[in-house]
Amino acid sequence: MTIHGALIAGTGSCVPERQLTNFDLEKMVDTSNDWIVQRTGIHERRIASAGESSASLAIIAAQRALATANTSPAEIDLIICATITPDMPTPSNACLIQQALGCRRGIGAMDLNAACSGFVYALVTATNFIKTGSAKTVLVVGAETLSRITDYTDRSTCILFGDGAGAAVLKQTTDRSVGVQAFELGSDGTGSMLLHVPAGGSRQPATAESVGAKLHTLKMSGREVFKFAVAQMSESIQKAINACGLTSDQIKLVIPHQSNARIIDSAATKIGLTADRMFVNIHRYGNTSAASVAIALDEAIRAGRCGPGDWVVIIGIGGGLTWATVTVKL
Ligand code: COA
Repeated sequence: MTIHGALIAGTGSCVPERQLTNFDLEKMVDTSNDWIVQRTGIHERRIASAGESSASLAIIAAQRALATANTSPAEIDLIICATITPDMPTPSNACLIQQALGCRRGIGAMDLNAACSGFVYALVTATNFIKTGSAKTVLVVGAETLSRITDYTDRSTCILFGDGAGAAVLKQTTDRSVGVQAFELGSDGTGSMLLHVPAGGSRQPATAESVGAKLHTLKMSGREVFKFAVAQMSESIQKAINACGLTSDQIKLVIPHQSNARIIDSAATKIGLTADRMFVNIHRYGNTSAASVAIALDEAIRAGRCGPGDWVVIIGIGGGLTWATVTVKL
């Protein structure tokens, strides 16, 4: 079997217009701009309007990625959409994207749930389809409307989350030295209740009571998740660097999951990476789960922070618990 390369040929992203600032949140719960900035690094986040959904944001992000990759929807062989907030439990967001883009009938389309690690899990899945020759062009999307499952009376969670989508087009190439060169997928279900939505699934179907008690919103043990993320992020980045026999000096940019600026700073310090080599946009978007590193990758490339030939480490960490890392040569 011939093993191919899988190039990230183009990226795109889309965030809602509407901003929710820390000052807006001060009027909604007992919090302050200073507390949120100091503890998280977040200044504002984007919130979907009534007409928007995770699929509608995903479709625009995908169109932008296709334009950048100079690729037509007809070329797509497979769509993978990472999300924990699909428009509906079924059909998948991926099918809604397939229809909206006008892709060929019969291509593969599926959603993937690995919470905040979802986009990196999807990148790895897409890469392996391409490497083995099962697909030539794959559209990978991370899309969330976390505002739809956030309790805006709970100050410990509502300050963190936002909405948005990012996408990447992966294309088969004969050059195996580009694209994902190493990856790690991880999980630890013993921490599954540290970040969860109690109701609305098959264990506790939605009822008037469950909705009244806000059991369809995210519940998080912030301190425990924080400790896990701090330890996991530095360990995974270091492993990703070692996996390709690189030193940290050779990494042009790390694109970490944007959940808390303190988690990112602590990982950078442990690994000895200067702040300019960690991409950060959490101040503008908060934590957008599966969309987080997808948006960050697109913004980093468009800002010229990384480009063809550069080594980049992308890392997702989140609910499940899950983590996922790729070492990519762009
Ligand atoms: N405004 C003001 N005070 C707040 C607050 C808010 N929005 N949220 C919590 N507090 C209070 C707490 O009630 C607590 O008060 P107490 O000491 O009187 O009990 C105090 O601030 C400290 O709370 P704690 O939870 O220990 O704060 P923290 O430093 O751990 O920061 C998070 C809280 C949520 C910012 C932090 O734990 C975090 O980022 N966790 C990980 C989040 C994450 O990554 N989630 C997604 C998975 S990737």
